[in-house]
Amino acid sequence: MVGGLVVVWKTLDEARIEASGCTRCRLAEGRTQVVWLDGNPESDLMFVGEAPGFNEDKLGKPFVGAAGKLLDQLLESIGLDRSGCVICNVIKCRPPANRNPEADEIATCSPYLRAQIEFIKPKVIVTLGNFATRFMLDRQLSITRVRGQIFKAFGAKIIPTLHPAAALHSGGVGSPQFALIRSDFDLIKAELAKDIPAPIPVRVPVPEVITESPLQQDPLF
Ligand code: URA
Repeated sequence: MVGGLVVVWKTLDEARIEASGCTRCRLAEGRTQVVWLDGNPESDLMFVGEAPGFNEDKLGKPFVGAAGKLLDQLLESIGLDRSGCVICNVIKCRPPANRNPEADEIATCSPYLRAQIEFIKPKVIVTLGNFATRFMLDRQLSITRVRGQIFKAFGAKIIPTLHPAAALHSGGVGSPQFALIRSDFDLIKAELAKDIPAPIPVRVPVPEVITESPLQQDPLF
């Protein structure tokens, strides 16, 4: 059970298959394909964005456009790539002309994200922007007020940060918004490091030191 809602699928793949043909809301009419997730579902780290855009809808993967490139750069800055995290969105279909998702679309799509969290069980969930943060924390918060803090929900640590598109809109990597996201990524790295169990000390047998007197040595050695 996740967030009070029983997830009906037995596996993540069952949920993906159902989502791939979903017609539960109006967004099904305009989409090219459902955008499920990218990255490694075995990972402890999940990023949740808002909704697929033009490129994501065409390629069927989240964050493959300009915002995705920035996300990849941010991951690299903490020594990760997509194989070290899983990336998805609050809603799985592109809204027309990239408009904001409507409340009923988010509610209708929510079992899919809940299933992703239920089966992947990330330890750290990073919410990118207002929509993901409000969904995960179930409150009408402002991302600029809560970014860089750690919350607990869905059995995970939730770290809200600005959506990479916010940095792009204000000038990209040189912008103050980018600097804020970068500092939040340092927090993400630190939190992940806390969750990595300390290595089990291995007891290496100390070899016995045998000192031979020169007189005992084979003279032909
Ligand atoms: N913005 C998002 O929120 N998600 C994507 O997949 C791409 C851009």
